[in-house]
Amino acid sequence: MSSPAPFAHIARMKKLYIKTYGCQMNVYDSARMADLLAPLGYRPVDDADGADMVILNTCHIREKATEKVYSDLGKLKRTKAARAEEGQTMLVAVAGCVAQAEGAEIMSRQPAVDLVVGPQSYHRLPEMIARIARGAGHVLETDFPAEDKFDHLPEEHAPCGPAAFLTIQEGCDKFCTFCVVPYTRGAEFSRPVIQIENEARKLTDQGVREITLLGQNVNAYRGTGPDGSPWNLAQLIRHLAGIKGVVRLRYTTSHPRDMDESLMLAHRDVKTLMPYLHLPVQSGSDRILKAMNRGHTRDDYLRLIERIREMRPDIALSSDFIVGFPGESDADFESTMELVRAVGYAGAFSFKYSARPGTPAAAAAKQLPDSLKNERLQALQALLTEQQAAFNQNCAEQTFPVLFEKPGKKLGQAVGRSPYLQPVHVDGAAPLIGAMRDVKIAAVLPNSLRGVLLSPAPLAEKALAN
Ligand code: 5AD
Ligand code: SF4
Repeated sequence: MSSPAPFAHIARMKKLYIKTYGCQMNVYDSARMADLLAPLGYRPVDDADGADMVILNTCHIREKATEKVYSDLGKLKRTKAARAEEGQTMLVAVAGCVAQAEGAEIMSRQPAVDLVVGPQSYHRLPEMIARIARGAGHVLETDFPAEDKFDHLPEEHAPCGPAAFLTIQEGCDKFCTFCVVPYTRGAEFSRPVIQIENEARKLTDQGVREITLLGQNVNAYRGTGPDGSPWNLAQLIRHLAGIKGVVRLRYTTSHPRDMDESLMLAHRDVKTLMPYLHLPVQSGSDRILKAMNRGHTRDDYLRLIERIREMRPDIALSSDFIVGFPGESDADFESTMELVRAVGYAGAFSFKYSARPGTPAAAAAKQLPDSLKNERLQALQALLTEQQAAFNQNCAEQTFPVLFEKPGKKLGQAVGRSPYLQPVHVDGAAPLIGAMRDVKIAAVLPNSLRGVLLSPAPLAEKALAN
């Protein structure tokens, strides 16, 4: 028997292209899939051309996002065929929520797909790839328990930059009548505090300074604490704020029903918790909120906003809105516009209602025409854009601590984020990437702010001393 070639145990470097659609939870999942495949020799690249494996990490929330997946798959089929002509292979995987909801259909509609993996099963990717290598044909894996996934993910996690996502909760038990999430991501599940703490410590060891805690219903978090009792999000935030190196904490996405007093108090007391809250309301009409099964009224929401502003007067607010929900009248829509005027948002996302198969609202009788949805969306977006511009304008001449994340477009420039999530460009700040410094806002641009460095930096230094 001949002796093995030196380094034969090191797998050939393979190119992995992951395309992420939809929410930040998918961004987190994509990073974890890259971590998981690194020991198999896969290294991330920015293009599907020439890739040995392509993963589409998909979103099912609206029809448009789902259609895009099928059109991208059509293009990949051609890339894969071209590669085959050169004697190369390309594995095509569909992950995420479309995989969960339409796994079998994807396989039959697009034979170029080798494997389909649901959001709770991607820790099984290496085993699935091995099954394909053994000639098992196409592989489908869309099992549910999230516990399994987090227990089997690799320890190492390679963050890029000083701001990272950390998933603490998955799934949803709310069953809003328009939404597919409870079906694609399953029931609410919270990771234990110790697991989250360990991941946060690893991130800070690697230079991360800002952590955004993620969950579909992040403020419904109820994870087992170190003492064995269930901890809520406020307890978790206070705990993580004590980790050396954590200078900023954020969390998203919250539900008004789970916005309890302890979380409001955390906004008052925990200085590392950024003054920014994404709290989707969806509609300003009680009739529509009821039909959506949101479990809160317009007044409940407005009272929450009032309370959170008492606790943290400088808090910036953001929301999601859906226009054109079945049966939405002109008066209902006007109630949404009124609510927006009453609250005043720093930013928001707004969508046309999209009927999703299997959800109760999709079967409702009074579906609205697209023309009306477009009209309402335009009116709402004009108002929200105006509010966002006013919010940004108000930042002119103010000084904020900015955490520098990456180089800007111009030489020597760096881009960071303000406490309110606005991108801030600063000339000459490139050597400060990874650090936080005080910046005075000199100009308000359409989608970002331009600032100048202040030195010394009392606000930022104070936060870093934490
Ligand atoms: N149609 C339009 N928007 C939707 N969202 C969720 N489901 C739908 C749908 N069927 C929006 C909600 C949610 C955000 C993530 O996506 O506003 O908060
Ligand atoms: Fe979807 Fe409603 Fe759950 Fe949010 S709370 S994920 S909108 S069902």
